[in-house]
Amino acid sequence: MKKAAVAPAATFVIFGAMGDLARRLLMPAIVNLQAAGLLDAKTDFIGVSHGEGSDDALRDALGKFVDGADWRKIAKRIRYMQGEFEDDALYKELAGKIGGNVVFYLAVAPNFFGPIVESIGKAGLFDEKDGFRRVVIEKPFGTDLKSAQELNKRILACAGEDQVYRIDHFLGKETVQNILVTRFGNALTEAVWNNRYVDHVQITAAETVSVGTRGSFYDATGALRDMVPNHLFQLLSLVGMEPPASFDAEAVRSEKAKVVAAVRPVEPDEAVRGRYVAGKAGDEKVPDYLKTQDVSPKSRTETYVAMKVAVETWRWHGVPFYLRTGKALAARDTEIVIRFRDAPLMLFHGTPTDALPPNQLVLQLQPNEGIALALAVKQPGPLVEAVPAELHFDYSERFKLGHRTGYETLLYDVLIGDQTLFQRADQIEGGWRAVQPLLDAWKKGQPEAYKAGSDGPEAADALIARDGRTWHPIG
Ligand code: BG6
Repeated sequence: MKKAAVAPAATFVIFGAMGDLARRLLMPAIVNLQAAGLLDAKTDFIGVSHGEGSDDALRDALGKFVDGADWRKIAKRIRYMQGEFEDDALYKELAGKIGGNVVFYLAVAPNFFGPIVESIGKAGLFDEKDGFRRVVIEKPFGTDLKSAQELNKRILACAGEDQVYRIDHFLGKETVQNILVTRFGNALTEAVWNNRYVDHVQITAAETVSVGTRGSFYDATGALRDMVPNHLFQLLSLVGMEPPASFDAEAVRSEKAKVVAAVRPVEPDEAVRGRYVAGKAGDEKVPDYLKTQDVSPKSRTETYVAMKVAVETWRWHGVPFYLRTGKALAARDTEIVIRFRDAPLMLFHGTPTDALPPNQLVLQLQPNEGIALALAVKQPGPLVEAVPAELHFDYSERFKLGHRTGYETLLYDVLIGDQTLFQRADQIEGGWRAVQPLLDAWKKGQPEAYKAGSDGPEAADALIARDGRTWHPIG
Protein backbone atom coordinates (compact mmCIF):
# COMPACT_ATOMS: atom_id res chain seq x y z
CA MET A 1 0.00 0.00 0.00
CA LYS A 2 1.26 3.49 -0.80
CA LYS A 3 2.02 5.53 2.28
CA ALA A 4 0.42 8.96 2.46
CA ALA A 5 2.84 11.88 2.84
CA VAL A 6 2.76 14.44 5.64
CA ALA A 7 0.37 17.22 4.61
CA PRO A 8 1.73 20.75 4.15
CA ALA A 9 1.70 22.91 7.29
CA ALA A 10 -1.26 25.26 7.58
CA THR A 11 -3.25 27.30 10.04
CA PHE A 12 -6.80 26.12 10.60
CA VAL A 13 -9.08 29.01 11.42
CA ILE A 14 -12.16 27.35 12.90
CA PHE A 15 -15.25 29.53 12.97
CA GLY A 16 -17.68 28.18 15.56
CA ALA A 17 -14.88 26.49 17.47
CA MET A 18 -16.93 26.25 20.67
CA GLY A 19 -19.70 24.35 18.90
CA ASP A 20 -20.68 20.73 18.83
CA LEU A 21 -19.32 19.90 15.40
CA ALA A 22 -15.84 21.14 16.22
CA ARG A 23 -15.53 19.00 19.32
CA ARG A 24 -17.42 15.91 18.14
CA LEU A 25 -16.08 15.49 14.63
CA LEU A 26 -13.35 17.92 13.77
CA MET A 27 -11.01 17.52 16.73
CA PRO A 28 -11.16 13.70 16.91
CA ALA A 29 -10.33 13.61 13.18
CA ILE A 30 -7.43 16.04 13.63
CA VAL A 31 -6.07 13.96 16.50
CA ASN A 32 -6.35 10.80 14.37
CA LEU A 33 -4.40 12.55 11.60
CA GLN A 34 -1.75 13.55 14.12
CA ALA A 35 -1.57 9.96 15.40
CA ALA A 36 -1.14 8.72 11.83
CA GLY A 37 1.80 11.12 11.40
CA LEU A 38 0.08 13.03 8.61
CA LEU A 39 0.02 16.49 10.21
CA ASP A 40 3.01 18.78 9.96
CA ALA A 41 4.35 19.82 13.39
CA LYS A 42 3.82 23.49 12.44
CA THR A 43 0.10 23.09 11.71
CA ASP A 44 -1.80 25.19 14.22
CA PHE A 45 -5.34 26.18 15.07
CA ILE A 46 -7.17 29.42 15.77
CA GLY A 47 -10.66 28.95 17.18
CA VAL A 48 -12.99 31.86 16.56
CA SER A 49 -16.13 32.31 18.60
CA HIS A 50 -18.27 35.25 19.70
CA GLY A 51 -18.25 34.63 23.45
CA GLU A 52 -15.62 35.64 25.94
CA GLY A 53 -13.03 32.91 26.21
CA SER A 54 -9.41 31.92 26.53
CA ASP A 55 -6.94 29.49 25.00
CA ASP A 56 -7.44 27.14 27.95
CA ALA A 57 -11.24 27.30 27.82
CA LEU A 58 -11.13 26.48 24.11
CA ARG A 59 -8.73 23.59 24.70
CA ASP A 60 -11.09 22.23 27.36
CA ALA A 61 -14.05 22.49 25.02
CA LEU A 62 -12.28 20.91 22.08
CA GLY A 63 -10.76 18.22 24.27
CA LYS A 64 -14.11 16.75 25.33
CA PHE A 65 -13.91 13.68 23.10
CA VAL A 66 -10.16 13.24 22.77
CA ASP A 67 -7.21 12.50 25.02
CA GLY A 68 -3.70 11.04 24.97
CA ALA A 69 -0.32 12.25 23.77
CA ASP A 70 -1.47 13.16 20.26
CA TRP A 71 -4.22 15.38 21.60
CA ARG A 72 -1.76 17.10 23.94
CA LYS A 73 0.49 17.91 20.99
CA ILE A 74 -2.46 19.44 19.16
CA ALA A 75 -3.78 21.26 22.24
CA LYS A 76 -0.52 23.23 22.58
CA ARG A 77 -1.07 24.66 19.12
CA ILE A 78 -4.64 25.92 19.71
CA ARG A 79 -5.37 29.60 20.26
CA TYR A 80 -8.64 31.34 20.99
CA MET A 81 -9.88 34.44 19.24
CA GLN A 82 -13.02 36.31 20.17
CA GLY A 83 -15.01 38.07 17.50
CA GLU A 84 -18.35 38.63 15.81
CA PHE A 85 -18.55 36.79 12.49
CA GLU A 86 -20.04 39.80 10.74
CA ASP A 87 -17.67 42.39 12.16
CA ASP A 88 -14.87 43.64 9.87
CA ALA A 89 -12.63 44.17 12.89
CA LEU A 90 -12.41 40.40 13.38
CA TYR A 91 -10.93 39.91 9.93
CA LYS A 92 -8.47 42.79 10.32
CA GLU A 93 -7.21 41.23 13.51
CA LEU A 94 -7.12 37.81 11.86
CA ALA A 95 -5.00 39.19 9.02
CA GLY A 96 -2.31 40.02 11.57
CA LYS A 97 -2.33 36.48 12.97
CA ILE A 98 -2.13 34.39 9.83
CA GLY A 99 0.31 33.95 6.99
CA GLY A 100 1.17 31.19 4.56
CA ASN A 101 -1.28 28.32 4.12
CA VAL A 102 -4.68 28.81 5.73
CA VAL A 103 -7.82 26.68 5.94
CA PHE A 104 -10.92 28.57 7.01
CA TYR A 105 -13.29 26.03 8.50
CA LEU A 106 -16.91 27.15 8.81
CA ALA A 107 -18.41 25.02 11.60
CA VAL A 108 -21.21 27.54 11.99
CA ALA A 109 -24.94 27.90 11.38
CA PRO A 110 -25.63 28.06 7.63
CA ASN A 111 -26.84 31.67 7.71
CA PHE A 112 -23.21 32.65 8.42
CA PHE A 113 -21.68 30.87 5.40
CA GLY A 114 -22.24 33.79 3.01
CA PRO A 115 -21.30 36.61 5.41
CA ILE A 116 -18.11 34.92 6.66
CA VAL A 117 -16.85 34.10 3.16
CA GLU A 118 -17.58 37.66 2.04
CA SER A 119 -15.74 39.13 5.01
CA ILE A 120 -12.74 36.89 4.41
CA GLY A 121 -12.76 38.05 0.80
CA LYS A 122 -13.17 41.71 1.68
CA ALA A 123 -10.19 41.55 4.03
CA GLY A 124 -8.10 40.09 1.19
CA LEU A 125 -7.54 36.85 3.05
CA PHE A 126 -8.31 34.64 0.05
CA ASP A 127 -5.27 36.12 -1.69
CA GLU A 128 -2.86 33.24 -2.27
CA LYS A 129 0.35 35.25 -2.61
CA ASP A 130 2.16 33.53 0.26
CA GLY A 131 0.35 30.18 0.45
CA PHE A 132 -2.96 28.49 -0.25
CA ARG A 133 -6.22 29.86 1.13
CA ARG A 134 -9.11 27.38 1.30
CA VAL A 135 -12.54 27.46 2.85
CA VAL A 136 -14.43 24.42 4.11
CA ILE A 137 -18.19 24.75 4.18
CA GLU A 138 -20.42 22.40 6.09
CA LYS A 139 -23.94 21.39 5.17
CA PRO A 140 -26.76 22.30 4.75
CA PHE A 141 -25.66 24.21 1.66
CA GLY A 142 -28.83 26.17 0.92
CA THR A 143 -32.37 25.12 1.66
CA ASP A 144 -33.59 24.81 -1.92
CA LEU A 145 -32.35 25.34 -5.46
CA LYS A 146 -32.62 29.10 -5.41
CA SER A 147 -30.84 29.61 -2.09
CA ALA A 148 -28.08 27.18 -3.09
CA GLN A 149 -27.55 29.06 -6.34
CA GLU A 150 -27.43 32.37 -4.49
CA LEU A 151 -24.99 31.03 -1.94
CA ASN A 152 -22.73 29.64 -4.65
CA LYS A 153 -22.82 32.99 -6.40
CA ARG A 154 -21.91 34.88 -3.24
CA ILE A 155 -19.08 32.53 -2.42
CA LEU A 156 -17.66 32.35 -5.92
CA ALA A 157 -17.63 36.13 -6.12
CA CYS A 158 -14.96 36.07 -3.38
CA ALA A 159 -13.09 32.80 -3.90
CA GLY A 160 -12.23 30.50 -6.79
CA GLU A 161 -14.00 27.12 -7.04
CA ASP A 162 -10.58 25.56 -6.42
CA GLN A 163 -10.53 27.26 -2.99
CA VAL A 164 -13.98 26.06 -1.94
CA TYR A 165 -14.41 22.71 -0.18
CA ARG A 166 -18.11 21.89 0.33
CA ILE A 167 -18.06 18.96 2.70
CA ASP A 168 -20.38 15.97 2.62
CA HIS A 169 -19.22 13.65 5.35
CA PHE A 170 -20.65 10.59 3.57
CA LEU A 171 -17.78 10.91 1.13
CA GLY A 172 -15.31 10.48 3.97
CA LYS A 173 -16.61 7.01 4.67
CA GLU A 174 -14.18 4.36 3.55
CA THR A 175 -16.85 2.11 2.07
CA VAL A 176 -18.42 4.96 0.13
CA GLN A 177 -15.08 5.56 -1.55
CA ASN A 178 -14.88 1.83 -2.14
CA ILE A 179 -17.88 2.04 -4.47
CA LEU A 180 -15.57 3.43 -7.14
CA VAL A 181 -13.09 0.60 -6.72
CA THR A 182 -15.83 -2.05 -6.64
CA ARG A 183 -17.26 -0.66 -9.84
CA PHE A 184 -14.28 0.31 -11.92
CA GLY A 185 -11.63 -2.02 -10.54
CA ASN A 186 -13.58 -5.17 -11.29
CA ALA A 187 -14.43 -6.26 -14.82
CA LEU A 188 -17.11 -8.50 -13.38
CA THR A 189 -19.14 -5.73 -11.80
CA GLU A 190 -18.74 -3.06 -14.44
CA ALA A 191 -19.77 -5.49 -17.17
CA VAL A 192 -23.25 -5.89 -15.69
CA TRP A 193 -23.63 -2.37 -14.33
CA ASN A 194 -26.28 -1.16 -16.76
CA ASN A 195 -29.90 -1.43 -17.78
CA ARG A 196 -29.37 -4.66 -19.63
CA TYR A 197 -28.70 -6.51 -16.37
CA VAL A 198 -29.82 -4.27 -13.52
CA ASP A 199 -33.52 -4.31 -12.67
CA HIS A 200 -33.41 -1.51 -10.13
CA VAL A 201 -31.27 0.10 -7.41
CA GLN A 202 -32.20 0.80 -3.80
CA ILE A 203 -30.35 3.32 -1.65
CA THR A 204 -31.23 3.33 2.03
CA ALA A 205 -30.01 5.39 4.97
CA ALA A 206 -32.04 4.18 7.92
CA GLU A 207 -31.32 5.39 11.44
CA THR A 208 -32.65 4.27 14.80
CA VAL A 209 -31.86 7.62 16.43
CA SER A 210 -34.69 10.07 16.76
CA VAL A 211 -34.47 13.83 16.39
CA GLY A 212 -33.70 14.00 20.11
CA THR A 213 -32.26 17.37 21.12
CA ARG A 214 -31.83 18.63 17.54
CA GLY A 215 -35.44 19.83 17.31
CA SER A 216 -34.79 23.41 16.27
CA PHE A 217 -32.41 22.44 13.45
CA TYR A 218 -34.44 19.46 12.34
CA ASP A 219 -37.88 21.01 12.36
CA ALA A 220 -36.65 23.67 9.95
CA THR A 221 -34.93 21.05 7.81
CA GLY A 222 -36.64 17.66 7.64
CA ALA A 223 -35.46 14.34 6.24
CA LEU A 224 -35.55 15.44 2.61
CA ARG A 225 -33.24 18.45 2.99
CA ASP A 226 -31.10 16.80 5.64
CA MET A 227 -30.24 13.66 3.69
CA VAL A 228 -31.40 13.46 0.09
CA PRO A 229 -29.91 16.13 -2.22
CA ASN A 230 -26.57 15.71 -0.44
CA HIS A 231 -25.85 12.29 1.09
CA LEU A 232 -28.18 10.05 -0.90
CA PHE A 233 -27.44 11.82 -4.17
CA GLN A 234 -23.75 11.35 -3.53
CA LEU A 235 -24.35 7.62 -3.30
CA LEU A 236 -26.58 7.72 -6.35
CA SER A 237 -23.95 9.52 -8.37
CA LEU A 238 -21.19 7.08 -7.38
CA VAL A 239 -23.39 4.17 -8.43
CA GLY A 240 -24.66 5.86 -11.56
CA MET A 241 -21.65 7.74 -12.96
CA GLU A 242 -19.77 6.80 -16.11
CA PRO A 243 -16.11 5.79 -15.67
CA PRO A 244 -13.99 8.93 -15.34
CA ALA A 245 -10.92 9.28 -17.55
CA SER A 246 -8.79 9.42 -14.40
CA PHE A 247 -9.19 9.73 -10.65
CA ASP A 248 -8.38 13.43 -10.86
CA ALA A 249 -10.80 15.59 -8.91
CA GLU A 250 -12.21 17.35 -11.94
CA ALA A 251 -12.67 14.15 -13.94
CA VAL A 252 -14.53 12.41 -11.10
CA ARG A 253 -16.59 15.45 -10.16
CA SER A 254 -17.65 16.06 -13.74
CA GLU A 255 -18.92 12.50 -14.16
CA LYS A 256 -20.80 12.71 -10.88
CA ALA A 257 -22.32 16.04 -11.81
CA LYS A 258 -23.49 14.59 -15.12
CA VAL A 259 -25.48 11.83 -13.46
CA VAL A 260 -27.13 14.23 -11.06
CA ALA A 261 -27.98 16.50 -13.98
CA ALA A 262 -29.63 13.51 -15.68
CA VAL A 263 -31.98 12.88 -12.77
CA ARG A 264 -35.54 13.75 -13.70
CA PRO A 265 -36.98 16.10 -11.04
CA VAL A 266 -39.01 13.90 -8.70
CA GLU A 267 -42.75 14.52 -8.80
CA PRO A 268 -44.82 14.30 -5.62
CA ASP A 269 -46.68 11.16 -6.77
CA GLU A 270 -43.32 9.39 -6.87
CA ALA A 271 -42.43 10.21 -3.30
CA VAL A 272 -43.67 9.56 0.22
CA ARG A 273 -43.08 11.48 3.41
CA GLY A 274 -43.54 10.10 6.90
CA ARG A 275 -43.27 11.26 10.49
CA TYR A 276 -42.77 9.02 13.48
CA VAL A 277 -45.13 8.68 16.40
CA ALA A 278 -44.16 7.26 19.80
CA GLY A 279 -42.49 3.86 19.92
CA LYS A 280 -39.19 2.18 20.70
CA ALA A 281 -36.35 2.50 18.20
CA GLY A 282 -33.15 0.67 19.06
CA ASP A 283 -32.72 1.20 22.81
CA GLU A 284 -34.47 4.53 22.74
CA LYS A 285 -38.01 5.16 23.95
CA VAL A 286 -39.06 7.74 21.39
CA PRO A 287 -41.85 10.27 21.96
CA ASP A 288 -44.09 11.52 19.14
CA TYR A 289 -42.07 13.74 16.83
CA LEU A 290 -44.55 16.53 17.51
CA LYS A 291 -43.76 16.35 21.23
CA THR A 292 -40.02 16.75 20.68
CA GLN A 293 -38.33 19.72 22.33
CA ASP A 294 -38.17 22.78 20.00
CA VAL A 295 -40.55 21.25 17.45
CA SER A 296 -43.64 23.21 16.55
CA PRO A 297 -46.88 21.37 17.36
CA LYS A 298 -48.10 22.55 13.95
CA SER A 299 -45.03 21.20 12.17
CA ARG A 300 -45.30 19.60 8.71
CA THR A 301 -41.73 18.37 8.85
CA GLU A 302 -41.06 14.84 7.68
CA THR A 303 -38.71 12.46 9.48
CA TYR A 304 -38.85 9.89 6.67
CA VAL A 305 -38.80 10.12 2.93
CA ALA A 306 -38.89 7.58 0.12
CA MET A 307 -38.87 8.24 -3.60
CA LYS A 308 -38.48 6.74 -7.01
CA VAL A 309 -35.84 8.45 -9.09
CA ALA A 310 -35.36 8.19 -12.85
CA VAL A 311 -31.81 8.65 -14.14
CA GLU A 312 -32.15 9.55 -17.79
CA THR A 313 -28.89 8.29 -19.24
CA TRP A 314 -28.28 5.52 -21.78
CA ARG A 315 -26.86 3.33 -19.05
CA TRP A 316 -29.83 3.70 -16.70
CA HIS A 317 -32.81 4.33 -18.91
CA GLY A 318 -35.69 2.26 -17.49
CA VAL A 319 -33.88 1.37 -14.25
CA PRO A 320 -35.53 3.04 -11.26
CA PHE A 321 -33.46 4.15 -8.28
CA TYR A 322 -35.49 3.91 -5.08
CA LEU A 323 -34.20 6.11 -2.26
CA ARG A 324 -35.33 6.13 1.36
CA THR A 325 -34.11 7.56 4.62
CA GLY A 326 -35.60 8.13 8.02
CA LYS A 327 -35.13 8.55 11.72
CA ALA A 328 -36.41 6.30 14.54
CA LEU A 329 -36.55 3.25 12.28
CA ALA A 330 -36.18 -0.44 13.08
CA ALA A 331 -32.40 -0.54 12.54
CA ARG A 332 -29.37 1.46 11.54
CA ASP A 333 -28.70 0.45 7.98
CA THR A 334 -26.99 2.40 5.22
CA GLU A 335 -26.81 0.29 2.10
CA ILE A 336 -26.98 0.20 -1.66
CA VAL A 337 -28.75 -2.73 -3.25
CA ILE A 338 -28.22 -3.51 -6.91
CA ARG A 339 -30.97 -5.89 -7.88
CA PHE A 340 -30.28 -7.75 -11.12
CA ARG A 341 -32.82 -8.91 -13.65
CA ASP A 342 -34.43 -12.31 -13.33
CA ALA A 343 -32.85 -15.10 -15.30
CA PRO A 344 -35.05 -16.59 -18.02
CA LEU A 345 -37.12 -19.27 -16.31
CA MET A 346 -37.73 -21.68 -19.20
CA LEU A 347 -35.01 -24.10 -18.10
CA PHE A 348 -36.40 -24.34 -14.62
CA HIS A 349 -40.06 -24.82 -15.43
CA GLY A 350 -41.50 -28.01 -14.10
CA THR A 351 -39.07 -28.13 -11.19
CA PRO A 352 -40.44 -27.63 -7.68
CA THR A 353 -39.19 -24.03 -7.76
CA ASP A 354 -39.97 -22.27 -10.95
CA ALA A 355 -39.09 -18.84 -9.63
CA LEU A 356 -35.39 -18.33 -9.04
CA PRO A 357 -34.08 -16.17 -6.22
CA PRO A 358 -32.77 -12.96 -7.82
CA ASN A 359 -29.13 -11.96 -8.02
CA GLN A 360 -28.46 -9.04 -5.80
CA LEU A 361 -25.36 -7.10 -4.80
CA VAL A 362 -25.56 -5.36 -1.44
CA LEU A 363 -22.97 -2.71 -0.61
CA GLN A 364 -23.29 -2.30 3.12
CA LEU A 365 -21.97 1.08 4.27
CA GLN A 366 -23.16 1.02 7.88
CA PRO A 367 -23.09 -0.37 10.49
CA ASN A 368 -20.95 -3.38 9.40
CA GLU A 369 -19.22 -2.45 6.18
CA GLY A 370 -19.17 -5.20 3.65
CA ILE A 371 -20.31 -6.55 0.31
CA ALA A 372 -22.72 -9.42 -0.23
CA LEU A 373 -23.67 -11.10 -3.46
CA ALA A 374 -26.80 -13.23 -3.58
CA LEU A 375 -26.76 -16.07 -6.08
CA ALA A 376 -29.02 -18.98 -6.88
CA VAL A 377 -27.56 -22.42 -6.17
CA LYS A 378 -28.88 -25.91 -6.45
CA GLN A 379 -30.38 -27.44 -3.37
CA PRO A 380 -28.62 -30.81 -2.86
CA GLY A 381 -30.86 -33.73 -3.71
CA PRO A 382 -32.43 -35.49 -6.64
CA LEU A 383 -34.49 -32.51 -7.81
CA VAL A 384 -33.13 -29.42 -9.57
CA GLU A 385 -34.24 -26.92 -7.01
CA ALA A 386 -32.69 -23.44 -6.84
CA VAL A 387 -32.25 -21.73 -3.50
CA PRO A 388 -30.56 -18.45 -2.53
CA ALA A 389 -26.95 -18.44 -1.30
CA GLU A 390 -24.73 -15.52 -0.35
CA LEU A 391 -21.08 -14.69 -0.95
CA HIS A 392 -20.11 -12.32 1.79
CA PHE A 393 -17.16 -10.02 2.41
CA ASP A 394 -16.86 -8.29 5.77
CA TYR A 395 -14.49 -5.31 5.91
CA SER A 396 -13.64 -5.73 9.58
CA GLU A 397 -12.63 -9.38 9.12
CA ARG A 398 -10.13 -8.49 6.45
CA PHE A 399 -8.82 -5.09 7.64
CA LYS A 400 -8.10 -3.35 10.90
CA LEU A 401 -10.45 -0.38 10.74
CA GLY A 402 -9.95 1.41 14.08
CA HIS A 403 -12.17 4.26 15.10
CA ARG A 404 -12.45 6.97 12.49
CA THR A 405 -14.92 9.78 12.17
CA GLY A 406 -14.83 9.87 8.37
CA TYR A 407 -13.49 13.42 8.53
CA GLU A 408 -9.83 12.35 8.53
CA THR A 409 -9.60 11.76 4.81
CA LEU A 410 -11.56 14.91 4.08
CA LEU A 411 -9.34 17.15 6.23
CA TYR A 412 -6.22 15.60 4.83
CA ASP A 413 -7.53 16.20 1.32
CA VAL A 414 -8.18 19.86 2.11
CA LEU A 415 -4.55 20.20 3.17
CA ILE A 416 -3.16 18.49 0.10
CA GLY A 417 -5.59 20.30 -2.21
CA ASP A 418 -7.52 17.27 -3.48
CA GLN A 419 -11.14 18.21 -4.17
CA THR A 420 -12.31 14.79 -5.41
CA LEU A 421 -14.40 14.11 -2.32
CA PHE A 422 -15.92 17.58 -2.13
CA GLN A 423 -19.02 18.85 -3.85
CA ARG A 424 -18.68 21.22 -6.75
CA ALA A 425 -21.27 23.98 -7.19
CA ASP A 426 -23.06 22.18 -10.05
CA GLN A 427 -23.38 18.92 -8.10
CA ILE A 428 -25.02 20.69 -5.18
CA GLU A 429 -27.39 22.61 -7.40
CA GLY A 430 -28.23 19.44 -9.36
CA GLY A 431 -29.29 17.72 -6.14
CA TRP A 432 -31.58 20.58 -5.20
CA ARG A 433 -33.01 20.79 -8.71
CA ALA A 434 -34.02 17.12 -8.54
CA VAL A 435 -35.99 17.48 -5.30
CA GLN A 436 -37.37 20.98 -5.82
CA PRO A 437 -40.88 19.75 -6.87
CA LEU A 438 -41.12 17.95 -3.53
CA LEU A 439 -39.98 20.98 -1.55
CA ASP A 440 -42.70 22.99 -3.29
CA ALA A 441 -45.45 20.41 -2.87
CA TRP A 442 -44.68 19.64 0.76
CA LYS A 443 -45.38 23.19 1.90
CA LYS A 444 -48.92 21.81 2.19
CA GLY A 445 -50.38 18.69 3.74
CA GLN A 446 -48.92 16.41 6.36
CA PRO A 447 -46.58 13.42 6.41
CA GLU A 448 -47.99 9.96 7.02
CA ALA A 449 -47.49 8.59 10.53
CA TYR A 450 -45.24 5.62 11.20
CA LYS A 451 -44.44 4.02 14.51
CA ALA A 452 -40.95 4.67 15.89
CA GLY A 453 -39.05 1.41 15.60
CA SER A 454 -40.91 0.31 12.45
CA ASP A 455 -39.70 0.19 8.83
CA GLY A 456 -41.42 3.49 7.97
CA PRO A 457 -44.84 4.47 6.63
CA GLU A 458 -47.00 2.00 4.71
CA ALA A 459 -47.13 4.35 1.76
CA ALA A 460 -43.41 3.66 1.18
CA ASP A 461 -44.15 -0.05 0.70
CA ALA A 462 -47.01 0.87 -1.61
CA LEU A 463 -44.71 3.16 -3.64
CA ILE A 464 -42.37 0.32 -4.59
CA ALA A 465 -45.14 -2.32 -4.70
CA ARG A 466 -46.76 -0.31 -7.52
CA ASP A 467 -43.86 -1.46 -9.67
CA GLY A 468 -44.15 -5.07 -8.47
CA ARG A 469 -41.08 -4.73 -6.24
CA THR A 470 -40.32 -4.79 -2.51
CA TRP A 471 -37.80 -3.01 -0.30
CA HIS A 472 -34.75 -4.87 0.86
CA PRO A 473 -35.38 -5.48 4.60
CA ILE A 474 -33.92 -2.86 6.92
CA GLY A 475 -31.25 -4.21 9.27
C1 BG6 B 1 -26.07 14.29 8.98
C2 BG6 B 1 -27.50 14.61 9.29
O1 BG6 B 1 -25.61 15.04 7.90
O2 BG6 B 1 -25.94 12.91 8.70
C3 BG6 B 1 -27.99 13.78 10.44
O3 BG6 B 1 -27.64 15.99 9.59
C4 BG6 B 1 -27.75 12.30 10.19
O4 BG6 B 1 -29.37 14.01 10.69
C5 BG6 B 1 -26.31 12.07 9.76
O5 BG6 B 1 -28.03 11.60 11.38
C6 BG6 B 1 -26.11 10.62 9.33
O6 BG6 B 1 -24.75 10.39 9.18
P1 BG6 B 1 -24.10 9.01 9.57
O7 BG6 B 1 -22.67 9.17 9.22
O8 BG6 B 1 -24.36 8.81 11.01
O9 BG6 B 1 -24.81 7.99 8.73
